[in-house]
Amino acid sequence: MILKGKKIILGVTGSIAIYKSCELLRKLREEGAEVKVIMTKNAAKFISPLTFQTLSGNPVYLEMFCPLEDNTWTNHSELVHIKLTQWADCMLVAPATANIISKTACGISDDLLSTTLTSFQGPIILTPAMDEGMYKNVIFKDNLSKLSGRGYHIIPATKGLLASGKIGEGRFPPIEDIIQSVRDVLLTKEDFQGIKVLVTAGGTQEFLDPVRFIGNASSGKMGYALAEAAKLRGAEVKLISAPTLLPFPNGIKIISVVTASQMREEVIKNFSLTDVLIMAAAVGDFRSKKLEKQKRTRANGQWDIQLVPNADILLEVGKQKKNKITVGFSIETENQIIKAKEKLRKKNLDLIVANDITLKNSGFCSDTNKAIFIDKNSKVEKLSLLSKKELANKILDKIQNIGRNRWKRE
Ligand code: CTP
Repeated sequence: MILKGKKIILGVTGSIAIYKSCELLRKLREEGAEVKVIMTKNAAKFISPLTFQTLSGNPVYLEMFCPLEDNTWTNHSELVHIKLTQWADCMLVAPATANIISKTACGISDDLLSTTLTSFQGPIILTPAMDEGMYKNVIFKDNLSKLSGRGYHIIPATKGLLASGKIGEGRFPPIEDIIQSVRDVLLTKEDFQGIKVLVTAGGTQEFLDPVRFIGNASSGKMGYALAEAAKLRGAEVKLISAPTLLPFPNGIKIISVVTASQMREEVIKNFSLTDVLIMAAAVGDFRSKKLEKQKRTRANGQWDIQLVPNADILLEVGKQKKNKITVGFSIETENQIIKAKEKLRKKNLDLIVANDITLKNSGFCSDTNKAIFIDKNSKVEKLSLLSKKELANKILDKIQNIGRNRWKRE
């Protein structure tokens, strides 16, 4: 009864996989959840609302304007979608058609389910199920990754026999995976209580004269997502941030820096007080040998800039880390795994997260990442395309696995 007392709106749409959501509903109830079902018109063509009503023990919601539980009709001050959103802890759409996913990505609210999805402010889990052609459609894929980047939880469809008789991608995922996602979303872990986490984020800037600098394309989103996720999981978080366009997250101590050497200074100062260091910042590897005091003008003619290397922060702290956990990132355009393994070894890291920035929707500025984990035992784990928030939690899960034994012994 791990979901006891949790209130879930189950949205069902017109996909043949709908017959599996009856079983899903039964399992959610077995776990103790209270479930109210919203059906689209097309869903009701596949299965009678009576089935969902009987399985959920609640009325099924089909229309924007429909009778309430006491058989009175809704009026404008008692709109059913508002009532439902106030009631629920989480929304789960399973199966979710290409139509409901694309409508949600565009904010279209033209029936009860899409309107409730637009109004709901809590976590939303989407479980796509459709034919392979639709699942691989580029517009649909863009919409799905847009939602993923905005923090919607997407459970990818699996590969196998489809209703068309073909083998392909688009199958409704195993019910146990969906239940697990609901558990992950609704049961916030507090597994970082008492753990001090230092995160770096953003791209450092190295000035050439008072107005110009050498920078990089880092948006800071990954580091900020990590800091926020660690905070939510109970950690005491400090965030050393190079310039970004992101708002500072609440409840996290921020140390603002600009250059790589300022970042180095702050990391070294705070390292002895931390249990975990996550270097998500894109630290500039070079700075100009000379900083011009005045703004350089074109009249000065050609400008030859000499660059000198900056210190490698992770390499430096890696030599004095003792029991601390250090995590690095590796951004490469080729030979991902070989180069990441080399960095892990050289910098004495516990985990490295490799990103291929040449992939669509991955790396700098994107809201999503397709990452590869490599740990100290050279174990390589390739992840699917995830929102940076989801990836942040996967990284924290890995750190938790590494730390569990170490922290217990101390
Ligand atoms: N890093 C660091 N100090 C630097 C540069 C990078 O601590 N001066 C950290 C980054 O924050 C990242 C990891 O090292 O977590 C790997 O960064 P990356 O730029 O991919 O590799 P480099 O070590 O700079 O290797 P290369 O010189 O091949 O670019």
